Amino acid sequence: MKSMTDIVSHFFRGIARSRVSLIGAMAVTVIFPFLTGAIIYDIVWHIQNTYVAAFIYMLLGPGFAGGLVLVFLGLFFFKGKEEVRLFTLEYLRGYFTDPAKFKKMRRMVFFAVFLTCVNIFIFGVLGYRTYHYMESVSFCGEFCHTVMSPEKTAYQNSPHSRVACVECHIGSGAGWFVKSKISGARQLFAVALDTYPRPIEVPVHGLRPARDTCEECHRPEKFHGEKLVVKDNYLEDEVSTHVQTVLLMKIGTAGDRSVSSNGIHWHVAPENKIVYKAIDDKRFDIPEIILTKNGKEEIFRTADADEKLKAAGEVEVREMDCIDCHNRPTHIYLPAATAINNKILDGTIPQALPFVKKMAMAVVQKTYASHAEARAAIESELKVYYSQNYAALIADQPALLEKAIAGIQAAYVENVFPEMNIVWGTYTDHRGHTNDLGCFRCHDEMHETAAGDSISQDCDTCHSILAEEEANPEILKSLGIR
Ligand code: HEC
Ligand code: HEC
Ligand code: HEC
Ligand code: HEC
Ligand code: HEC
Repeated sequence: MKSMTDIVSHFFRGIARSRVSLIGAMAVTVIFPFLTGAIIYDIVWHIQNTYVAAFIYMLLGPGFAGGLVLVFLGLFFFKGKEEVRLFTLEYLRGYFTDPAKFKKMRRMVFFAVFLTCVNIFIFGVLGYRTYHYMESVSFCGEFCHTVMSPEKTAYQNSPHSRVACVECHIGSGAGWFVKSKISGARQLFAVALDTYPRPIEVPVHGLRPARDTCEECHRPEKFHGEKLVVKDNYLEDEVSTHVQTVLLMKIGTAGDRSVSSNGIHWHVAPENKIVYKAIDDKRFDIPEIILTKNGKEEIFRTADADEKLKAAGEVEVREMDCIDCHNRPTHIYLPAATAINNKILDGTIPQALPFVKKMAMAVVQKTYASHAEARAAIESELKVYYSQNYAALIADQPALLEKAIAGIQAAYVENVFPEMNIVWGTYTDHRGHTNDLGCFRCHDEMHETAAGDSISQDCDTCHSILAEEEANPEILKSLGIR
């Protein structure tokens, strides 16, 4: 026991003699209780605040590790004037040759092994928790608050709000994890130096191929049949008339044992490969599409493909995957009309308020410098309008206007982010053809093969239109819906 304390005191004397070790030891001693306490708290109760978590895992953690490194550097390399004998070669040789000392030596080895085990354990837990934190939605979505706030907000209102950012952006495997952290470090500098683009540019060119990530959960070869899609719209008349468009979407399948690939998900069937050349960064202008079907190649080109491709020089050759249609699976920024329609549909904006759709559209489409400014302007403008035109109604039912104001403000702040220059329509959805070219980038009957075949724009290729902008469509009644 005595020799044990001897070793320990040697160790500490060694530390005391080196200024570098001493600084390291001080850092370790101060940080250790906070760090262990914080990690245990995080494991048990989960730390919600991302800045607190960042302080723990990105400052305290590395601080602790750095302190330990300093202690050992000091012991071995930056010793004080007086020789510290601990762990030096002669010292060790003396111990190995003298049997009496060897016994002491054994204890020291045990002590070293013990310390190492403790450190491995601490580093293991620390490393694991740090990894966990860096993969969390709060780190990805909140750490650089204004920068990521639009994506986080849109994400929280989407069908994928329970899917972690990393499931789509990184996926499994060490390679993409390392890649993402390297690009993450670059992004951190961009934020620190304020050089990041506003809005963040899309498409994200370094994104992992969607088939690696989306197909962890979705399997287009298991899709089948058609899907009834109902689009609700409210007209800009006094009663904001409710009209509906009903489409039977030919979702189709990528092909299973029982059915061959057909419909919309025919593009991602294993026997079909579609590669295209876009001449712009946004992938909107596509002069050439190469379809390889069962090993046979067909090339669809526009009449001016040669000129365009020559003028563009080096272009991206991209294999079509889920993202070429589902570019907004979770960061869904709605067009103004859809945002307002949805709020009227779920009752957040009361349809009973006269001209509510028209007024809402008018106020949300003005330009504001911030959410605060937008909120204030929307409120005052609506109050002025309704007190001038519907004074009796507002006096009778003040809640109607209050509710409408809150709903319209919400529609705005969920989709428009002035700080990041995201306005209505900055990010459009490629599904369909109403908000941007979408499917019609290829399905325009302007792309032809040498034999004269083109990519169909026939309205029935992708959907059957069962009703268009109808009030109480007959078809929904006969299907027994609502
Ligand atoms: C369901 C899959 C999915 C999830 C979950 C997801 N993303 Fe994305 N994200 C995408 C896709 C796909 C794009 C690419 C859009 C494009 O290239 O046009 C994208 C693009 C982005 C962009 C570029 C700007 C933009 O709006 O397109 C940012 C920033 C981003 N994601 C951050 C996040 C953050 C932060 C989270 C978690 C809060 C997250 N993502 C969760 C699929 C996802
Ligand atoms: C971790 C699992 C997971 C991953 C990865 C994932 N999704 Fe999903 N996705 C889901 C779940 C679960 C739903 C259903 C949500 C619901 O209905 O509430 C869904 C729904 C959808 C829908 C239907 C949305 C709607 O409006 O009804 C589409 C389209 C979709 N995902 C596309 C994608 C694409 C594209 C990717 C890759 C970028 C992807 N998903 C990645 C789990 C995932
Ligand atoms: C050619 C464009 C296109 C491609 C490529 C594509 N999808 Fe789709 N997908 C659509 C359209 C359009 C819909 C119907 C959207 C709607 O409900 O209005 C859809 C619907 C879906 C749905 C919802 C199905 C349902 O029954 O509600 C999921 C999930 C989905 N796609 C996942 C994927 C995945 C995963 C991939 C990649 C392997 C993929 N899609 C590739 C266009 C595409
Ligand atoms: C290449 C496939 C394709 C073709 C061809 C096509 N559509 Fe569509 N259309 C879609 C998809 C996908 C949607 C979007 C469904 C969604 O948003 O869920 C859509 C949506 C629509 C809508 C509803 C828009 C809304 O949001 O209210 C209408 C109306 C429509 N299409 C009409 C037509 C007409 C008319 C034609 C023929 C000129 C046509 N489409 C050709 C794929 C196609
Ligand atoms: C990058 C180009 C491209 C885009 C974008 C694209 N398609 Fe296609 N699509 C094709 C090609 C090529 C074919 C095959 C044409 C042929 O063989 O005649 C095709 C065929 C189809 C077919 C017929 C499949 C079958 O059963 O044979 C459907 C349905 C379809 N597309 C729907 C869509 C929808 C919906 C969208 C938008 C969400 C879309 N496509 C976007 C290139 C594209």
